[in-house]
Amino acid sequence: MSFDLVLFGGTGDLAWRKLMPALFQAFRHGSLPEGGRIIGVARDDLGDDAYRALIQERFEGVEGAKRPNAEEFARFAALLHFVRMDLSKPEDYARLAKALAERDADTVVLYLATAPGLFTTACEQLAAAGLNTPRTRVVLEKPLGHDLESNRAINATVRRAFDERQIFRIDHYLGKPSVQNLFALRFGNALFEPLWRREHIANIQITIAEDLGVEKRGAFYETTGALRDMVQNHALQLLCAVAMEPPIDAGADAIRDEKLKVLRSLKRWTPEALSQHVVRGQYTAGSAAGHRVPGYRDESGVDARSTTETFVALRAEIANWRWAGVPFYIRTGKRLAARDAHIVVNFQPTPHAIFRTPVGAGNKLVINLQPRDGLELHLLAEGQTARDEARRGAAQTLAPVQLDLDFDKRFGSERVGAYERLLLDVIAGRLNLFVRSDEQEEAWRWMQPVLEHWRGDAQGPRPYAAGTWGPSAASAMIARDGFAWAEEA
Ligand code: BG6
Repeated sequence: MSFDLVLFGGTGDLAWRKLMPALFQAFRHGSLPEGGRIIGVARDDLGDDAYRALIQERFEGVEGAKRPNAEEFARFAALLHFVRMDLSKPEDYARLAKALAERDADTVVLYLATAPGLFTTACEQLAAAGLNTPRTRVVLEKPLGHDLESNRAINATVRRAFDERQIFRIDHYLGKPSVQNLFALRFGNALFEPLWRREHIANIQITIAEDLGVEKRGAFYETTGALRDMVQNHALQLLCAVAMEPPIDAGADAIRDEKLKVLRSLKRWTPEALSQHVVRGQYTAGSAAGHRVPGYRDESGVDARSTTETFVALRAEIANWRWAGVPFYIRTGKRLAARDAHIVVNFQPTPHAIFRTPVGAGNKLVINLQPRDGLELHLLAEGQTARDEARRGAAQTLAPVQLDLDFDKRFGSERVGAYERLLLDVIAGRLNLFVRSDEQEEAWRWMQPVLEHWRGDAQGPRPYAAGTWGPSAASAMIARDGFAWAEEA
């Protein structure tokens, strides 16, 4: 099957940081279909050779096994081409259409890795240039809008130009092997299903913590913030994967229908919930990886009086038979104590205690997403030593123990990365791991009251020192329910 993969933003940050390395890995693994072209598109004045040289130069900075050797790069470079284009000029789209028509590939992927402000113009112009044929697929990167209304407007324009089945909205968390494993755990094993409900689960916590700050993206982040950048998409997609009903099959719409039902069941915000169940924070100077780091307001591109949140913790509830009354806590932030993404499923305690147990110990399933990808099942066991035995009182004390599964160790580290998988899926036309417009809108609809509440809230985000787990209000929020975050338990 021949394909043309057109990368708009072909010299940009995403193309370099994520897409080119992923395409190279797919090429190296032999999973990229034969007979493909990767066509970088940008305004730069480059030809094919200069583009190849640019990409080669950037690969030279890559450390270790992911760096191609000269022979490998030469074979990969043969796939690379460049088309100079200004996305605001209709005649440039006609030129692109001509270049693609000469080849007449079986599949044409139009990947918009550009500033989101260009999505609607680009889609309109691509359609006007006749590039919306049944063989075309269009890929959209987030953010798709900055609120419900703008998201709807973008989706409406894109859908005028392309059919929903041609539109691949990326949420790269869905491509992560750890998230694939969450689906496998839930729907490939019957073991946990009877326990996966309100009768047995006390609460569920979803944490996506980053130790990095905003890096060079200060100007972008200023108008985005953690809620739009991480919660509206990645965290809510994880929530869907944990809470959804088993789909009727593994087809794209069966999965997306179930995710949509979760989003629709999210309990609506009340004024009380808005003030009690959402905490926003902003990092101040502190230390990360042993170095002093500046506060958010001192990052380049950031307003010295910025009220943009770099941390969010919130409590959600899903109003359906499976989950009514079970709190779902979501937490994400920049410059936190560690790079650590995980989901903790805390099970109910025993209904009647005949043993003593350490405070905070109990049954939980931890789904580690990154940096390690694995599962931990926490249990209580009799682990008394002879010395403990001598001090033993009337009641026996159990000790927390865990069963540990490390998927990197089990399956090796050469696993398919998120972007590699997603790019291969687009080329193959598999929509399972992409977000449908109704899901996306529903997620924005649920977030909208929070955005509006913050707009009218003079208090602004709460400060937290870089290198910590966020503002203490996030701990207070969960403590009010009698629970604690995983690292505090
Ligand atoms: C992106 C956000 O979607 O996800 C970034 O825009 C964030 O701000 C990144 O750093 C996190 O992705 P990952 O895969 O490194 O956890």
